[in-house]
Amino acid sequence: MRVLGIETSCDETAAAVLVDGRLRANVVASQIDLHARFGGVVPELASRRHLERLPFVIDDALAGAGLALREVDAVAVTCGPGLVGALTVGVAAAKAIAFASGRPLIGVNHLEGHVYANMLEHGEIPFPTVALIVSGAHSDVVFMAEHGSYEVLGRARDDAAGEAFDKVARALGLGYPGGPAVERVARDGRPDVVSLPLPFPAETSYDFSFSGLKTAVVRAIAAASDGPEFSANVAAAFQENLVRVLVAKAVRAAEERGARAILLGGGVAANSLLRTRIEAEAARLGIPCFAPPISLCTDNAGMIAAAGWFRLRRGLRSSLRLGAYADLDLGAELPETGRTEQT
Ligand code: KG4
Ligand code: ZN
Repeated sequence: MRVLGIETSCDETAAAVLVDGRLRANVVASQIDLHARFGGVVPELASRRHLERLPFVIDDALAGAGLALREVDAVAVTCGPGLVGALTVGVAAAKAIAFASGRPLIGVNHLEGHVYANMLEHGEIPFPTVALIVSGAHSDVVFMAEHGSYEVLGRARDDAAGEAFDKVARALGLGYPGGPAVERVARDGRPDVVSLPLPFPAETSYDFSFSGLKTAVVRAIAAASDGPEFSANVAAAFQENLVRVLVAKAVRAAEERGARAILLGGGVAANSLLRTRIEAEAARLGIPCFAPPISLCTDNAGMIAAAGWFRLRRGLRSSLRLGAYADLDLGAELPETGRTEQT
């Protein structure tokens, strides 16, 4: 089974080819250069750049896999959540390919893609499992009883984890995207010099609220005479507190729900402090913690092809009426998706 994956939900134009569950090509054309000077993604510019680049990115992925378009068996595409104009470009391309070739179309929830990035690396995962999905727009604690089943236990009430990283980076003058930059600077700092809040909104809830922590960082930066040492210490303290909360909630969910594994996914899953801490805590519970390789944590189409492949194996496919959905809950059924054969 050869699945072409397409991802255009934000600022990466991406296409990938998955052959029998193995990644044969994974092309990501980043738009970082385009958005960096604005300090964040400009939606309209993102859509236009996707439109210009996507055909070439798809060609590159096919060439990398040594396949012609007619040899593809199915097309999987991110249909939400994300920037609606950006998503529309990928969805339109996927629908055109599916229609012209008569192959099945599979709409994929972007967050499901982040979960399934793990399957590319680790194969089968034991269920039930708890997934911590941490990206630029989401911080979700999700219980999965089995493949394709998502019970969202907690989510970001305000800033998502990646968003907080990006805003702290901006306040420190580190540019965009912020996560890797904050992580780099934090390596030279001590987490116990600058005192910051540890944001546990209601101990019993699995929700996150990082905007207070972010604001405290911004205030500390404004009040301090800055210098490399201060930047390193504040970055380290911010990262420490944010990671502590993420790990505590995900691990508590795994313990309470009797999970047999913890899965990490999303751009913030590239953070090495988060990876080491959560692995250590999972080991304490006696369960494995799976994280995708760094290159598959941030947005890519390999993860979309993987999630699409799992959907296809369960007999799911989307109709050609599939749209682009800015808000799409992980737990909700995907629109225009069913088990029947249709066009
Ligand atoms: O999953 P992703 O590529 O895009 C979304 O779906 O949002 O995640 C991007 C987010 C950005 O906020 C970025 O700053 C953050 O992931 N990120 C990191 C790291 N690498 C990327 N955050 C912390 N540490 C990192 N190493
Ligand atoms: Zn993402």
